[in-house]
Amino acid sequence: MSIRFIKNDKRFIINTKNTTYAFEIAFDRYLCHTYYGKKTSKIPAAEMRMLSFAPYMADLSEKNSPDVFAQECSFYGSGDFRPNALRLSADGTGVSDFVYKSHRTFRGRLELDGLPAARADENTQTLEVTLIDTVSGCRLKLYYTVFAELDIISRYMVVENVGKKTVKIDKCMPLMLDIGRSDLDMISLYGSHCHEVNFQRVPLHHGTQSVYSKRGGSSHQYNPFIALCDHNATDERGEVYGFNFVYSGSFLDEVDVDQIGRTRVLMGLGSDCFSYTLEAGQSFCSPEAVMTYSANGIGKMSRNFHKFVRNHIMPPVSLEPHPVVLNTWEACYFDIDEDKLVKFAREAKKTGFDMLVMDDGWFGKRNDDRAGLGDWFENRDKFPDGLASFVRKIQAEGVKFGIWVEPEMVNPDSDLYRAHPEWALRVEGREPLRSRHQLVLDMSNSDVVDYLIALFDKTFEGIQIDYFKWDMNRHMSNVGSSVLPADKQGEVFFRYMKGVYRLFDWFLDRFPNAVIETCSGGGGRYDLGMMQYGIQIWTSDNTNPYDRTMIQASAMLAYPAATMSCHVSNPHEDLRSLDYRYKVAVGGMLGYELNILNMSEDIKRDISAQIAEYKSFDHVMRLGEYYNLAFPTKYDYSAYYYTTEDASEIVLTVIEKAGCKKGTTKKLRVKVADANANYTDVRTGKTYSGDELRAGITVELLGERDSAHLFLFKKA
Ligand code: DGJ
Repeated sequence: MSIRFIKNDKRFIINTKNTTYAFEIAFDRYLCHTYYGKKTSKIPAAEMRMLSFAPYMADLSEKNSPDVFAQECSFYGSGDFRPNALRLSADGTGVSDFVYKSHRTFRGRLELDGLPAARADENTQTLEVTLIDTVSGCRLKLYYTVFAELDIISRYMVVENVGKKTVKIDKCMPLMLDIGRSDLDMISLYGSHCHEVNFQRVPLHHGTQSVYSKRGGSSHQYNPFIALCDHNATDERGEVYGFNFVYSGSFLDEVDVDQIGRTRVLMGLGSDCFSYTLEAGQSFCSPEAVMTYSANGIGKMSRNFHKFVRNHIMPPVSLEPHPVVLNTWEACYFDIDEDKLVKFAREAKKTGFDMLVMDDGWFGKRNDDRAGLGDWFENRDKFPDGLASFVRKIQAEGVKFGIWVEPEMVNPDSDLYRAHPEWALRVEGREPLRSRHQLVLDMSNSDVVDYLIALFDKTFEGIQIDYFKWDMNRHMSNVGSSVLPADKQGEVFFRYMKGVYRLFDWFLDRFPNAVIETCSGGGGRYDLGMMQYGIQIWTSDNTNPYDRTMIQASAMLAYPAATMSCHVSNPHEDLRSLDYRYKVAVGGMLGYELNILNMSEDIKRDISAQIAEYKSFDHVMRLGEYYNLAFPTKYDYSAYYYTTEDASEIVLTVIEKAGCKKGTTKKLRVKVADANANYTDVRTGKTYSGDELRAGITVELLGERDSAHLFLFKKA
């Protein structure tokens, strides 16, 4: 059992393969955190000490203040002045003070109420600790679900109002970790539309540093993933703590360094975009957050997360080959119709594609981005015989069919909005702001979700759809719902996400043979919540290979290649080499979006060869382990490899950035190679001994525009 309770010490110990996590019950009330780090049997006792101005219970001493010791969950207003995990009360003060009541452990895990959560397997175990707050009349259950093999522990909480009063929750941070030091760097991923997940690593400072989204989606601006590491941690060395949130809406990650240099990490639903009222008898279940610890550098943290995401977050079907798609967007934008796309399908088949994905522009009066969202029925000018007949024609050409949808949105110029303006998020008396000419549907209103279900059900009735691309192209402002009373408007952000997840569940249920690619103007919802529903995420609207190299390298810190949808695209103004774009795109799941009707036979032949080659090694990218060799923010090239677990196949990629010095040589050490084996690079036929690969192969940077190197090593 990975979870133990030592009765005499009132101590909980969670052991994973390489880590130990521990806390104890102090004074029969507080849950004091005592250890998280490298696996050990030497667990320190809770640290009690004197701190001036630290309030304490009358029956305890000055050394026993909640402001002093490390905690598992801290409550606003009850003596802990650091940022708190929970702000809840029945009397408007926000003050609560939950004390330990009982606990139990069990195999597996419980489901979260309408929220995505990591899938259990036969080794998963859960600890449930129950606390009570007699004044508010609430019970709080803290959950620790343990994925021991992967060194992952997840946390979420449930508040049950078992009293008689109405209770309001204003802040709910299911993950809280107190670390007794602050000589750490914080890694986070910031960005903007088309420039997602930029790597940032800065030393912690006193005060609170945070990343957050108030946008309704997890956002391009800050990814929910963060990590803390030693100042000198590298890919292979140093202590690293990694954190992530299994949720796709507004969030708050707080990292606070307190008066005496201790660090608190909090992850969850912050006060800005969250409040929740619980009537007597009701309960609230938070989303889940996950954490890992590596004593062996950043690379190990990434591999822990990658394996966890593949095996416990992404749908099992994502372990199988992902289709190589030809997407119509950058080739056609809104200019699509039946004739053109049937020709696309014919050429796509000849070139070796698995699927044609019809992007935006097929429905309502959707000739540009000013109209049509919400009217999810085919545009008869473009598809005169209807959608079903069109899809049959596509499939008759021998490719599968995928279709774009953006269910959460509505254009003011649409039949839906004209019929139901009250179904858009809005605040009474205020003009709703537009973004990309669209408004956001109120997914917290179950009538809206039911309507969408009925509409999609009818539109796609009898049509074999293999793939949905689910987009979301604006963030939320004027967040208010016409169906909630004033004192519940703070719930809209959270209820919205539950409505979205319900609709995802319906799609997966209704189209059991279809898979979903999620998207939010590229990487606007690149998060573990979305990864539960889709087999991959459209990583960025930016398909420029130079920018993509940076984006993909940073994304791989927390997310495996299997999550990244990467297309070779039709460059807008400047035709860069197909080979370079391909070598960048195979860092994730390969696809293309270019006009196959304008393409020379030579280019089509090259693409066929690329697809065939990719299919010979895509399993290594999809299921393999990731090792970074040169991060492109630090070097003028990017280098990394993926390896099968038994190191029998290794894909090594080197992408040169602009301005690389011609003729520079780099030694790239493939340390996982089997020292007793020989490897052949199947691209060149050249053989290397395992020792040679471990010592490092020499790659000469060409320093030319668009140079990249791909090695496909196979054990002889
Ligand atoms: C944004 C997406 O990221 C693009 O790939 C494309 O689907 C457009 N939306 C369509 O409007």
